Amino acid sequence: MTSLTDRKNAAISRGVGMTTQIYADRAENSEIWDKEGNRYIDFAAGIAVVNTGHRHPRIVEAVKAQIDRFTHTCHQVVPYESYVHLAERLNTLTPGNFAKKTIFVTTGAEAVENAVKIARAATGRQAIIAFGGGFHGRTFMGMALTGKVVPYKVGFGAMPGDVFHAPFPIELHGVSVEQSIAALKKLFAADVDPGRVAAIILEPVQGEGGFYPAPAAFMRALREICDQHGILLIADEVQTGFARTGKLFAMEHHDVAPDLMTMAKSLAGGFPLAAVTGRAEIMDAPAPGGLGGTYGGNPIGIAAAHAVLDVIEDEKLCERAEQLGSRLKQRLAAIREQAPEIVDIRGPGFMNAVEFNDVKTNLPSADFANRVRLIALEKGLILLTCGVHGNVIRFLAPITIQDDVFAEALDILEASIMAARA
Ligand SMILES: Cc1ncc(COP(=O)(O)O)c(C=O)c1O
Repeated sequence: MTSLTDRKNAAISRGVGMTTQIYADRAENSEIWDKEGNRYIDFAAGIAVVNTGHRHPRIVEAVKAQIDRFTHTCHQVVPYESYVHLAERLNTLTPGNFAKKTIFVTTGAEAVENAVKIARAATGRQAIIAFGGGFHGRTFMGMALTGKVVPYKVGFGAMPGDVFHAPFPIELHGVSVEQSIAALKKLFAADVDPGRVAAIILEPVQGEGGFYPAPAAFMRALREICDQHGILLIADEVQTGFARTGKLFAMEHHDVAPDLMTMAKSLAGGFPLAAVTGRAEIMDAPAPGGLGGTYGGNPIGIAAAHAVLDVIEDEKLCERAEQLGSRLKQRLAAIREQAPEIVDIRGPGFMNAVEFNDVKTNLPSADFANRVRLIALEKGLILLTCGVHGNVIRFLAPITIQDDVFAEALDILEASIMAARA
């Protein structure tokens, strides 16, 4: 009989990469079972999508109730109150003490595309600045903004123009905030007149790029530069949002607010929904009909998102993220005593990562990170790597993970790191 992997290889483009060969059968909170009945602890959460766990009962209930009423009308044709109410909630909950408006779309990349469209319409300018190591999606603009070539930009031809990259400040890799800001100013002198720049976009904590938090001084300096030159600041919170960093949004760790914010992933706890929220006058710049999409703000995703926001608040998931993250980081610090490959343990709340170097060369070791990942998978723990050099393991378990399952996962993690050293 042909294996499922063979069928997958024959039927699906290899361009859709897969990090495991586990075919999901069912999932509950932080656990997934495959077709053979093997059980896995999920430290990937569908790449930061189920912060509230798989099949949270309140989200399932909200979705079922919505399915029983209507599943799609297209908000641009026959609107519904739940869309309006979710926009009101996000306008209130997102950082920034000013009037805001929101639109709903379907994916993170689409949110980024729309944020750029809105920024260009509002400023009448073209250029966009992003950062090395940043990730903003796989559509053309998302890809152009992304600061990592392999695999995201290989073979896809000319990127949209007027996109520039500056280095992201990572002390561990020898780039200070001052150097990063100096490089941005050099960009203004050498490549693009700041008067032509519509927006600067960044992730408050780089996700795919390696879980590097933007230092507070950096965010402040960016805000100042934006204000000085009439540039909009876009925070891409697609991966950092919804309690992951110990706050509802990672920008709440900063004392400055963005003009526009993109959200997706955990917004709807497993249903495809994304949003752009920003200053009301900026959000209103595009003409009617310029924004939207057939499925944008699908009622099922909207119903799920209302339940997600309720669960985050009622179950105090921001506090829980802090507790889980500090337990994880403490355990990693203890493992580090015996594993000199670990060169850094970091991340706010429960958006944590561990970075590995080769002990002999002291260079980034993707090989070591991958060994840890594969050994953990064999032991029943799903981990994800990230980083421009692929030498980082990022932890994205549901914030609702049960204490005993979490303790079990930490034991597997330790055993896997030690086994990778052998
Ligand atoms: C920060 C960030 N922006 C945008 C995206 C793209 O989101 P999507 O995959 O939903 O298009 C991602 C996805 O990982 C992301 O992490």
